Amino acid sequence: MTAENQGGTQQRRAVKAVVPVAGLGTRFLPATKAVPKEMLPVVDRPAIQYVLEEASGAGLSDVLLVTGSGKGAIEDHFDAAPYLESRLAADGKDALLASVREATGVADVHSVRQGVPRGLGHAVLCGREHVGDEPFAVLLGDDLIDADEDLLSRMLDVQAARGASVVALLEVPADRTHLYGVAEVEATGEDGVVRITGLVEKPEPGTSPSNLAVIGRYVLQPGVFDVLARTAPGRGNEIQLTDALETLAADESIAGPVLGVVFRGRRFDTGDKLEYLKTVVTLASERDDLGPAFRTWLNDFSKTL
Ligand code: UTP
Repeated sequence: MTAENQGGTQQRRAVKAVVPVAGLGTRFLPATKAVPKEMLPVVDRPAIQYVLEEASGAGLSDVLLVTGSGKGAIEDHFDAAPYLESRLAADGKDALLASVREATGVADVHSVRQGVPRGLGHAVLCGREHVGDEPFAVLLGDDLIDADEDLLSRMLDVQAARGASVVALLEVPADRTHLYGVAEVEATGEDGVVRITGLVEKPEPGTSPSNLAVIGRYVLQPGVFDVLARTAPGRGNEIQLTDALETLAADESIAGPVLGVVFRGRRFDTGDKLEYLKTVVTLASERDDLGPAFRTWLNDFSKTL
């Protein structure tokens, strides 16, 4: 299908990403009392580094972190560390030096403060001035997508071809839909791309409009900012991005269609304790350096359970 008969207009692929990291991380207390959940290590890199590497790999070279109180370690992680770097260089620890510098070079990183964490929608709205009048991506800092997947690139292609806002959708089992925001969808004629006609936040079991859950990757049109600015606090008394997307989906004249790209790969929610443990074990067991020894130990350990 062409862009025209989908009702959208072709436009430049987004190059900026907004990464909200100002949430309180209450699901991971007490670890997250003084350490941002986005800084929890997944093997040997903080979760947020995987997210910025994914953004950069998809061509999003400009990243805006929406930070808040106690989140300074995230900005430090992506900044140069002259003393540490010169010590590693002097000691000839070249591999470690390169690993430290990887985070610095990952993208052009900026930050803005949210002040009070008034919800994900409000965090995105804090990016308005930096983003300006162009489409942009939103990546949640504790949501990891398998590095082998090209989800974000596919979403950016759809945005550019259709002038649409694009949401990542994950197929979840019917007995888990009540844990997510779930999309009501219709076909577009393009494989893996659906038109979103409505969104339901955590539907009661048995009432879900589909098994397609919204996950933490979005590509949005700048028109979303006006909608967010007039979106009243919703669930949890927070300004919800889902509510603004629902408004956009209900009226395409505001900022074009809202489309969903269906993702069938692996996604890890590192903001949840059990999911975090599964993430670390999975990724460690797949590493070339640690994997062989770790898998041997894991095998032996599992026999003791
Ligand atoms: P979450 O609901 O997963 O984050 O928000 P949270 O509130 O930190 O987590 P819990 O539920 O208390 O454990 C999704 C994303 O939006 C950011 C969070 O940092 C997370 O990356 N967020 C949320 C903000 O930046 N500001 C907010 O006001 C709320």
